[in-house]
Amino acid sequence: MTHDWLARNPRARLDMPFGREQQYVVNPNGIPELLDELKACPAHKVTPLHSLPALARRLGVGELRVKDESHRFGFGAFKALGGVIAVYNVLSGAVGEAHHNSTTFEELLKGGHRAITANYTFATASSGNHGRAVAAGARLFGNRCFIFLPKFTSDEKEAAIRARGAEVIRVDGDYDTAVAECRRKSEENGWTIISDTSWEGYEDIPRSVMRGYTVLVEEVVRQWRSGPTHVFVQAGVGGLAAAVIGYLWARYEPRPRFIVVEPESADCWFQSNAAGKPTLASGNADTVMGGLACREISPVTWPVVGLATDWFMTITEDEVMPARKLLAHPLDGDPAIASGPSGCAGLAGLVRVCTDEAAFKELGLDRTSRVLVISSEGNLGEGAV
Ligand SMILES: Cc1ncc(COP(=O)(O)O)c(C=O)c1O
Repeated sequence: MTHDWLARNPRARLDMPFGREQQYVVNPNGIPELLDELKACPAHKVTPLHSLPALARRLGVGELRVKDESHRFGFGAFKALGGVIAVYNVLSGAVGEAHHNSTTFEELLKGGHRAITANYTFATASSGNHGRAVAAGARLFGNRCFIFLPKFTSDEKEAAIRARGAEVIRVDGDYDTAVAECRRKSEENGWTIISDTSWEGYEDIPRSVMRGYTVLVEEVVRQWRSGPTHVFVQAGVGGLAAAVIGYLWARYEPRPRFIVVEPESADCWFQSNAAGKPTLASGNADTVMGGLACREISPVTWPVVGLATDWFMTITEDEVMPARKLLAHPLDGDPAIASGPSGCAGLAGLVRVCTDEAAFKELGLDRTSRVLVISSEGNLGEGAV
């Protein structure tokens, strides 16, 4: 393969079993039950899996389905699942420890066990979708929440976080300064940090966040009986990719082929694949795809994303708007989907491959392929397309 934007994963084998190492990252047990439990939440609604036959024909594949996360929890992005489920898991774990028996989503939503759960305050550093998601989760269960924002986060983003009831702490510095300050203050005050990325000694909560994301994959399994042959999934730190790849790997035999898509300047997975271990991105992560602007992978996800992604690829900034337009102004009879710059990155990756004959062939795509992409966010005030 001669492309500098597409690389095969030398570690991936289609017949590799989903083992214990993978199950530690993404545990498929109990996810159907979790999805059923969520019905207790008034804001919960299964998101649509749209079929786009006209675009599939144009791209030369058999079927194209788009999981549309623009209405998740009335929030606009899949990230809501992570924030809400991670907060729920912390609170239900605390109840379980105190009473030696379990509680339910519904019980906690209705204010059960407040004597235990009210003691928890949540915190995270993020100016993007994850910050809003944690704020939304804390609000749902009636807990205090602090979001640490870098100096340059816009006032609109701050307002969106405050609107979800969180208290905002502005930090005089960049994102890393906000993370450091969040960790310092949380330690001092006994707050629980809900991070979507892992670090040494901090894996349980990022795993819990990914458990939340797997709910959307369980929905896909229920919505699409035959399932995909190819899955294009965009990555920031790799939490979404781990949930999608891990859950489909566990559920389907043979598993689909997985392609992880990143912005050129935030190619931490692409570089880690080449190095054979977690490695920094080659660029400065300056991209319009804000949710994917990550320079480092979440290390806990390696046994799933690092071992079962068949190809890693990057897309250019110029490929984002055409992909958003393809979704917003669809071909004959296809449904219109509102998608933001990070949301449409999987589709942008598919388009890049389908317009390059060698790449199309390399991935084994043809008129019988069934392709899944995830539109991971709606058009969150990103302007007209
Ligand atoms: C809309 C959107 N898509 C995809 C991602 C990537 O998720 P992850 O960082 O888990 O790889 C993010 C992360 O914030 C996001 O906001």
